[in-house]
Amino acid sequence: MPSIIDAITNRSSKRAYLPKAVEKDIQEKILHAAGMTPSGANMQPWKVYAISDEKILKDIGDAIIATMNNGVENDQFIQYYPVKWTNPYKKRRVETGMGLYSLMNVDRKDTQTRTNMWHDNFRWFGAKTVFFVFTDVANIDGAQGALIDCGAYMQSIMLAAQEFGIDSCPQGSTTEFGKVVAKVLDTPDNLALLYSVVLGYADNDAKINTYQPKRVSLEESIVFI
Ligand SMILES: Cc1cc2nc3c(=O)[nH]c(=O)nc-3n(C[C@H](O)[C@H](O)[C@H](O)COP(=O)(O)O)c2cc1C
Repeated sequence: MPSIIDAITNRSSKRAYLPKAVEKDIQEKILHAAGMTPSGANMQPWKVYAISDEKILKDIGDAIIATMNNGVENDQFIQYYPVKWTNPYKKRRVETGMGLYSLMNVDRKDTQTRTNMWHDNFRWFGAKTVFFVFTDVANIDGAQGALIDCGAYMQSIMLAAQEFGIDSCPQGSTTEFGKVVAKVLDTPDNLALLYSVVLGYADNDAKINTYQPKRVSLEESIVFI
């Protein structure tokens, strides 16, 4: 069994999966562990749609891609990325994106391949199980705490998954089309999609799954006093 440090440092986002859903009992164990994530006032502000139904996943993907093809940039409950990118975050974003394209030999100007790679998000990278994490809109009306709680919950899902040999990819791409997801799922009006997490058995032969973007040094991100 990996140590906690190993589990944290060895996790990386996988973007190619074998066509096999995560067994229901394993999903339950992952979600049970993730449910122990701390939250302010023990609010547990997450509401998860754990979907392994192929048709529904296809319907969600089709609806998002159709929306994008209509020129709609987003249809979302929350704005995930900065509205104005500043450095050093802009530089890190560019380096991370370019690193992936360069590994996959995709030319910077090859917009078609880059678009296809982005659309892969909405084909769930071939995985057959996706957790869509919502919160109650009341929790994020003028407050941000539930977003912190649900972010910690995301990491708990991904770490717990590793115990069962399950890899994952967190998705802010679905955040941008949260209202489209909500419409397909016909979720209650009080729910807002925050993000999704693709879960499955990574294709270990896929080159894309070797990508591991670097992190900044402690000096760059920590102030010891
Ligand atoms: C909230 C969040 C949203 C993300 N959205 C996407 C996404 O939509 N598509 C994707 O391929 N990766 C997505 N990622 C993965 C990041 O690109 C990845 O975590 C980062 O580059 C670090 O790489 P690693 O996860 O392999 O360590 C997201 C990560 C987080 C935490």
